[in-house]
Amino acid sequence: MAQKKIAVFVGSLRKGSFNRMMAKVLIALAPAFLKLEIVEIGGLPFYDQDLDDEGRPAAEWTAFREQVRSFDGLLFVTPEYNRSVPGVLKNAIDVGSRPYGQSVWGGKPGAVISVSPGAIGGFGANHHLRQSLVFLDVPAMQQPEAYIGGAAKLFAPDGTLVNGETREFLKKFMEAFGAWVELNSTKPGKAAS
Ligand SMILES: Cc1cc2nc3c(=O)[nH]c(=O)nc-3n(C[C@H](O)[C@H](O)[C@H](O)COP(=O)(O)O)c2cc1C
Repeated sequence: MAQKKIAVFVGSLRKGSFNRMMAKVLIALAPAFLKLEIVEIGGLPFYDQDLDDEGRPAAEWTAFREQVRSFDGLLFVTPEYNRSVPGVLKNAIDVGSRPYGQSVWGGKPGAVISVSPGAIGGFGANHHLRQSLVFLDVPAMQQPEAYIGGAAKLFAPDGTLVNGETREFLKKFMEAFGAWVELNSTKPGKAAS
C-alpha cells in the first residue's frame, strides 16, 4: 500500500495535555502505511483577513499553509472548550482556509477524535469541528465515532495508555481511518469559499 502522510492537529497547548498524549498513542497504533506527524499550531498569529488582502500574510501562516498542503490526510485530536472547539484549533482551521479560494483543506480525508476528563468525551467540540469540515470539503470519517471521556484515568504520567479496551478501540479507529484515507485519496479537492 502506498504511504500516506497524515497531519495531526492537537487542540491543546497544555504541557500535560491528554489530547497530546492521545495523539502520540494514535501515532503509535496507526497502520504502517500511515505516516503521522503532529503539526504545531500554537505559534500561529490570530487570523486577520487584512493581512491576506494586503498581500502581506504572516510568515507563520504561509509556512503552515505550505506544510498542510504536503499532507494526504488530516487527524484532529481535540479537547472541548465550553462545548466547542478550542480557539487555537479554530484559528489554525481559519488560517488554512484562506485566502479566499486557496484553502489547503479541501478534499483531504480527515478524522476527529475528542478527549476530555468529562463524561461526554468532548461531543460538542467534535461536532462543531465536523461542521467546519463539511464547509471546508474535508470528508470526515463518520464511523467509528470517537468521544473519549474519563481521560484523567486513561494515561500513566508518561503518557502510556493504561486501559486495554480503549487501546483496542483506538487501534480499530486508526485502521478504519487508514481505510478511509485510501477510499478518499483520489477525490479531487474543492477550495471552500
Ligand atoms: C476554557 C476551558 C473550557 C472547558 N470547557 C470544557 C467543556 O465544555 N467540556 C469538557 O468536557 N471539558 C471542558 N474543559 C476541561 C477540559 O476538557 C480539560 O481541561 C482537558 O484536560 C483539556 O484537554 P487537554 O488535557 O488536552 O489540555 C474546559 C477547559 C478549559 C480550559
